[in-house]
Amino acid sequence: MYSSFQLTKKYLRYYFTASNGKGHGTHSPFVFDFIEHVLNDKKNYACYDKIEAVRSQLKHDTTTIEVEDFGAGSSIIKSNKRVVKDIANSSLKSPKFAQLLYRIVQYYKPENILELGTSFGVTTTYLASGNDSAKVVTCEGAKQIASIAAKNFTQLNIKNVTLVQGDFDKTLPTIFDTLKTIDLAFVDGNHRKEPTLQYFQQLLAHSTNTTILVFDDIHWSQEMEAAWSAIQQHPAVTVTIDLFFIGIVCISNGIKVKQHFILRY
Ligand SMILES: C[S@@+](CC[C@H](N)C(=O)[O-])C[C@H]1O[C@@H](n2cnc3c(N)ncnc32)[C@H](O)[C@@H]1O
Repeated sequence: MYSSFQLTKKYLRYYFTASNGKGHGTHSPFVFDFIEHVLNDKKNYACYDKIEAVRSQLKHDTTTIEVEDFGAGSSIIKSNKRVVKDIANSSLKSPKFAQLLYRIVQYYKPENILELGTSFGVTTTYLASGNDSAKVVTCEGAKQIASIAAKNFTQLNIKNVTLVQGDFDKTLPTIFDTLKTIDLAFVDGNHRKEPTLQYFQQLLAHSTNTTILVFDDIHWSQEMEAAWSAIQQHPAVTVTIDLFFIGIVCISNGIKVKQHFILRY
């Protein structure tokens, strides 16, 4: 991964070159609509406070748990003792981006949602709350982390989530057999080039012409930047939106010309 200094430099470059969607006009009706109705929606939706209360509990939880670490190729490389609050402080998507995912679900109403990397289920809960009738499948390899996520879903009365515990390599084939098509995916586990591109290919094979794929931490490392660039160049990809901390990919949307946007958020 890049050092904090390298990341800060990259972020500043992103910040000062990104468009705010106003300027010369955004030449994509899809992106214009996304900026107006999703990105810039500043409402404080009812679920935000309830989910943030659970995040806050996790950030103060001093319980030590056993966490399996997944290496390249998804083999478990080591098992560590970790404190819940340390994971909560470092691994979860921030409220700003988790709430953006909530609004994406609320606005586009994807029916089948897949999340790779549940952690404690905070972002999963945002995804599930965006549309009660969506079916959310979320995957987590570490057993004790997954069991905390399951407790959080119960505490927040989340009924439309199926949590699948196990290594992505082993659980994904069965998930794809049952889901058939994926309308929205959030890829937030195993931040390496080859696994990310493999997940992309698997998701592509189950996409429709309105599927949206969201990749986490696209600028986190050279490998993730290389994966992001390969995804952007793939012929099936029509529109990409770079928000620095996540990258959004549209598979078709009836859009003929490939367009890449860097938007300030
Ligand atoms: C960054 S965290 C997910 C955070 C979560 N999406 C959120 O925003 O709250 C990534 C999770 O993916 C899990 N993970 C990484 N590689 C995996 C693999 N190959 N199979 C299963 N789980 C994996 C890790 O155990 C970790 O809990």
